[in-house]
Amino acid sequence: MNLLKKTGIRGHAILCVFIGLLVSVASSQAADKLEEEVHFLKLRMDLWKNNYRQLCKHFSNLALNCSAPVINCTECPDKWLHVGDQCFFLSTDRQNWSDSINKCKEIGGHLAILTTIEQHEAVEKEGRRIGGLYTNYWIGLSDIESEGEWKWVDKSDLKTPFWNALNSEPDNNLSGGADGEDCAVVDSYNQNWFDVPCSFSYPRICQKDATELL
Ligand SMILES: *[C@@H]1O[C@H](CO)[C@@H](O)[C@H](O)[C@H]1NC(C)=O
Ligand SMILES: *[C@@H]1O[C@H](CO)[C@@H](O)[C@H](O)[C@H]1NC(C)=O
Ligand SMILES: *[C@@H]1O[C@H](CO)[C@@H](O)[C@H](O)[C@H]1NC(C)=O
Ligand SMILES: *[C@@H]1O[C@H](CO)[C@@H](O)[C@H](O)[C@H]1NC(C)=O
Repeated sequence: MNLLKKTGIRGHAILCVFIGLLVSVASSQAADKLEEEVHFLKLRMDLWKNNYRQLCKHFSNLALNCSAPVINCTECPDKWLHVGDQCFFLSTDRQNWSDSINKCKEIGGHLAILTTIEQHEAVEKEGRRIGGLYTNYWIGLSDIESEGEWKWVDKSDLKTPFWNALNSEPDNNLSGGADGEDCAVVDSYNQNWFDVPCSFSYPRICQKDATELL
């Protein structure tokens, strides 16, 4: 009786190991298949990009002759979002505001100057996608030079504000330090802006012009 019980348990253990082995083989096969598919899709995408380039050039040539609306055939670097004639990049690393300005310069851009709803929606969607529960991203807006006078990093005035009205932003709240809140983040869930201390660390949104397709 005792012996039987023992072998029964051993048989059970062997079965478990066997099942475990099967599951791990199956999941590594699934991973291989996924990788293959990603590779294949990338090839197809490159092909489509090429096609797009050619068609766009062709269209532009034709459009010149028949007063059709001219479109610019532009593109953004890998991993940048393409919105209109602009490209946007959302980082995952976090820096303070002035370091974020430099980080954007290092990749040939500037902190984002969000002037249209279309740009807003695109970066917020991407923010939700890559950020998960994380929501705040630096944009190139501050009143660092003169309290209450919000300016973009290219010195242009703020014309279309997207402040969070529910929380009466911007409120220059002093709870984060005596310097108040002179820099702005976009909240990708609330889809509007908050002023925060410039010394805080957030990921950033960089921006640059899309380049003409060659
Ligand atoms: C556009 O018009 C010019 C002159 O009318 C002609 O030489 C040229 O081939 C046309 N281009 C296309 C793409 O049709
Ligand atoms: C197309 O690009 C040119 C040069 O970059 C620019 O001057 C022009 O405004 C653009 N046109 C449109 C419709 O975006
Ligand atoms: C400033 O922030 C603190 C903490 O978040 C909050 O309790 C306080 O009400 C805020 N003050 C103003 C004026 O909004
Ligand atoms: C930002 O961080 C850098 C160090 O990475 C520091 O030297 C600089 O003083 C900080 N700036 C602000 C405004 O906090």
